[in-house]
Amino acid sequence: MSQASCVLAVALAGLLAATAASGASGASAATEAADVVVDVADVANVSLGLPALPAPPAAQVALGRMLFFERRLSVNGSLSCAMCHVPEQGFTSNELRTSVGMEGVSLRRNAPTLLNVAHVPTLFHDGRAPSLESQALLPLLHPDEMANASLKTVVARVATWPAYRPLFRRAFGSAAATAPRMAQALAAFQRSLVAGGSRFDRWRFAGDKAALSVQEQQGFALFQSQGCVACHPVGERHALLSDQGFHNVGVQARSDALRQQQLTVQLLPGLQATLTPAELARVGVAGSPDLGRQEVTHRPADARAFRTPSLRNVALTAPYMHDGSIDTLEAVLDHYIAGGWPADAAQDSRIRPLAVDRAGRDAIVAFLRTLTAQHLTAGSAPRSVEPTAAASR
Ligand code: HEC
Ligand code: HEC
Repeated sequence: MSQASCVLAVALAGLLAATAASGASGASAATEAADVVVDVADVANVSLGLPALPAPPAAQVALGRMLFFERRLSVNGSLSCAMCHVPEQGFTSNELRTSVGMEGVSLRRNAPTLLNVAHVPTLFHDGRAPSLESQALLPLLHPDEMANASLKTVVARVATWPAYRPLFRRAFGSAAATAPRMAQALAAFQRSLVAGGSRFDRWRFAGDKAALSVQEQQGFALFQSQGCVACHPVGERHALLSDQGFHNVGVQARSDALRQQQLTVQLLPGLQATLTPAELARVGVAGSPDLGRQEVTHRPADARAFRTPSLRNVALTAPYMHDGSIDTLEAVLDHYIAGGWPADAAQDSRIRPLAVDRAGRDAIVAFLRTLTAQHLTAGSAPRSVEPTAAASR
């Protein structure tokens, strides 16, 4: 954003705040005016710090939201998109390292957050899906996810649900349910999950120098000096905090090594059992080697490389990494400080032991916690489920 348009955005936010304040009545509104200005400015700035994208059509977003929460989309009516990408849990599942699908089958990867997914050019941890539209229908057919026999059967089912007819008509001009329309609507809803506008964005892009504490600013300085920005870049005008590339930072080799020692299996959501390799062999559970990007490109150089996740809203999206194998941000930092998993010869050469002490580690974690969109922390119900004011226009 240029200096001028930045000033304009701040002025616009102020104007919205003033309008909102004048709508409220009484002395309390006047005394809390300062707070009101901050709140409304944040909501108006949900995309602060993100590159501008066209807003998805509101009628498609509305249909897509219904489909996203629709359990009847799965073969036995048990599973919706929202049950693995839980809105209240940062659009991932905080209790599960890897997703649990149909009939309790454990998937091998962690459900990525869908916040800001509009900015992700290649989807899935290995980048195998090129667009939200092409991705949206895959879970409907995946045998361990929603397990439908064919798209035809799902579409035929949706066509019998009267509540959907007006939604299809408003979104697409006629009431007919089709697979491309469902894909487009699900994509539109996911594109509405814009979640910039964090305290960091106010500090970095809106000139609010008081938005970060000294410790958080020190954490950001370390984040830069320790080379994190090579893969999680922060620009002058916006910050995706992902280079959208694929890198091996030692996570899969670490998990494979730990699996040799023991395996924690998910029996039911929230109920886990830890088994030794001998016990596992007895019940016939094989380790699940995951080659990541190499499975898509077939290039040995891509072994165990996974897409760099954006670190936006990372405080909300535990557990971490493609297999959910690291539970806390502190433990993620310990992994990097130790130099990743040096035993993996394919690990990216930029992952090396860091001279960062305990205070430095905590400062980096404090910085990472400033990347949460303020409209998500404001209340328990995530505002992002609603299209933003900008998106509905
Ligand atoms: C059983 C749990 C489960 C269900 C149900 C599910 N997902 Fe997912 N989703 C996952 C997992 C796990 C991944 C990561 C898979 C991978 O990378 O190989 C994923 C990945 C994605 C991605 C890619 C995100 C990124 O950043 O790369 C999108 C988009 C997505 N899901 C949307 C949906 C939609 C839309 C639905 C409903 C039609 C849905 N999911 C249903 C578990 C689930
Ligand atoms: C060589 C590129 C690279 C560098 C350098 C790098 N990262 Fe990462 N980061 C990644 C990749 C790739 C992943 C995902 C790895 C996986 O899932 O196996 C990741 C994952 C993470 C995650 C987990 C996010 C999530 O949603 O699961 C955090 C937090 C993180 N990095 C922070 C940092 C910090 C802090 C530094 C500096 C100390 C750093 N990274 C340096 C590439 C990098």
